[in-house]
Amino acid sequence: MSDAPEPVNDRNAWWRSAVVYQIYIRSFADGNGDGIGDIAGLRARLPYLAELGVDAIWINPWYPSPLHDGGYDVVDFCDIDPVFGTLDEADLLVDEAHGYGIKVLIDIVPNHTSNLHKWFQEALASPPGHPSRDRYHIHDGRGPNASEPPSNWLSVFGGPAWQQMADGQWYLHLFDVSQPDLNWENPEVLREFESILRFWLDRGVDGFRVDVAHGLFKDPSYPDIAEVGDLSVPRQQLGHPFWDRDEVHEIYRRWRSILNAYSDRMMVAEAWVHPDRLPLYIRDDEFHQSFNWDFLAAEWDANEMARVIAESYQRARKVGASPTWVLSNHDVMRHSTRYGLPRGTDWHRWPTEGPHEALDVAAGLRRARAAALITLSLPGSVYLYQGEELGLPEVWDLPESVLEDPTWERSDRKVRGRDGCRVPLPWSLEGPALGFSTAEPWLPQPAAFVGLAASSQAEDAESILTLYRRALALRGEWLTADEEFEMIDLGADTLSYRKGSRMTCVVNMGSADLPLPVGEVILTSAPLKGGELPPDAAAWISLAPSTASSTD
Ligand code: GLC
Ligand code: CA
Repeated sequence: MSDAPEPVNDRNAWWRSAVVYQIYIRSFADGNGDGIGDIAGLRARLPYLAELGVDAIWINPWYPSPLHDGGYDVVDFCDIDPVFGTLDEADLLVDEAHGYGIKVLIDIVPNHTSNLHKWFQEALASPPGHPSRDRYHIHDGRGPNASEPPSNWLSVFGGPAWQQMADGQWYLHLFDVSQPDLNWENPEVLREFESILRFWLDRGVDGFRVDVAHGLFKDPSYPDIAEVGDLSVPRQQLGHPFWDRDEVHEIYRRWRSILNAYSDRMMVAEAWVHPDRLPLYIRDDEFHQSFNWDFLAAEWDANEMARVIAESYQRARKVGASPTWVLSNHDVMRHSTRYGLPRGTDWHRWPTEGPHEALDVAAGLRRARAAALITLSLPGSVYLYQGEELGLPEVWDLPESVLEDPTWERSDRKVRGRDGCRVPLPWSLEGPALGFSTAEPWLPQPAAFVGLAASSQAEDAESILTLYRRALALRGEWLTADEEFEMIDLGADTLSYRKGSRMTCVVNMGSADLPLPVGEVILTSAPLKGGELPPDAAAWISLAPSTASSTD
C-alpha cells in the first residue's frame, strides 16, 4: 500500500492515533447518589481512565434535556442538565482531564433540537408563516384539507417522520417526535451553531463528535421516497432527499475553519453514508475523522474483516486522513454479544425475535478479547465504548417495563432498541448498583455484571480489563505513530497484518489451533496451546530485526 499518498497535514496531531473512550454519562458513574451518572462521578473516575491509558474521552450529550432520546433531544446547547451537574463542574472536568493528559470531546447535535427548545416553543406559539417557523421544517400537509403529511418519509425510530401541529401544519422529525429537525437553509441556524462551537472551544474542550453529520440538509421539495423500507441503518443512495446531501460539506468547511483558529482541536463525524462517500467528509478542510461503520458491522470472518480493514485504511489515506476503528457505542448491540451470535443474525431484531439459545456467550467474549488486539494495533484511532474493557455483554433481556429508547414504542414493540448497551457500569461489588451509585441504578444491572466488576478485574491477571490495560500500554510504547501497514496472508480463516516494520498481528478466526510466524510473542488474547494460537484468539508478535529490515 506504498502508493497511498502521505497524509497531507496534521501528521503528528494527537487525534491521528488517539484512543478515545466514549462516556455515556448517564451510565458511567453516579457522584450524587440519585442512580444517574453525572459529571461528579466522571471526575472521580478520571484516575481509572488514566490508568487504563486512554488519550481522550468523548462525552455523550450532557445538555439540558427531557431525555426522551438519551439527551440527543437538546433544550439548550450551552448549558449542562442539572441531573449531570453544572457548567462550573464541566469546566473543572475539562481541567482535571487535561491534568491527566486526557483530551475532552463533546457531542454536538446539529440536526434537531428538543421540542422544548425555546426556538421550537416560539415556533409553536407563532402563526404559520412566522419567521420562527422557518428555523424548522414546518409546512402545510398534502391531500384533502392538507390532512396528510408533506411526504412519506419515515422516522429512523419507526413511524412517520412528520407530526401535525395544533393549527394543522406539520413538522419534520427524522428521529423522535420530540426532536424537530432544524432547517439548515436558515442563516440563523447556521450562526447559532457557529457560536455554540465557539462557546465550548473557548471553555477548553478539545473537539466535537458531530451527531447525524450526514443528515442536516433536506431536499426542499420533500419528494416521496420510492422505497420507504427500514431506515434504521440509513445507507443513502445518491440523491436521497435527506441523507448525505452535498450541501452538508459547506457547513463542515466553515466549522473546520473555526476549529483551525484554535490550536489542536478536532471533530469526528457520525456519518452513516456509503463507504465510497465517506472520504468526502474527511477531506483536509472538513472533519478530521469519521467513525468507521463498515468495520463495526463486519462479521467475525477473516476474509470479510481483511477486506473491510484494507478498504477503510485506503479510503482514509486517499484523503490524507487517519482511519478509525469502532467496535461498539451507545447505539448498537455490544460486540461481545454480537460476536456470540450466529453469522448473519439481524442483531437489531434478535433480542425480540431470538432464537435466544443461539447466543454463545463464551465465544463472544473470546472474540471480544481478540478484537481488542485488532483495533488497538491498526493504524489510526480507536473509539472504545465504556464497559467494553470489562467485556460487558448486551443486556438484551431487560424487562420491557424499563425500556426507554423511543425505538421500542415507535416500532410497535418489535425492536427493543438501545437500552441494553446503556446499562450502568459495574465498578465493584458494593451497594445496590455495583459501585455505580449508592442508589438503585436507572437501568437494572443483570447478574452477569457481578462477575465483571472493574475492581475484581483489576486484580485478575487474566481479565479482559488487564488485557486492555496491557494492550494500551504497549500501543503507547511502540505502536502508535506508525501509520504504515499491510495485510499478510497466513492461510484461510486467519486475519493477519504487519504494522510498520515492528509487529505483526495474527488472529485465528478458524476452528483449529494455528502455528504462529517467527517473532517474539508480546501479547495474546488467550493462552497459547503448545505454542499455537487457539481459535478466536489474537497475538501481537514483535518482528525479529532481520524481518523488520525488509519492510523499511
Ligand atoms: C445519533 C446518536 C443517537 C441518537 C440519534 C439522534 O445516531 O448517536 O443516539 O438517537 O443520533 O440524535
Ligand atoms: Ca447522579
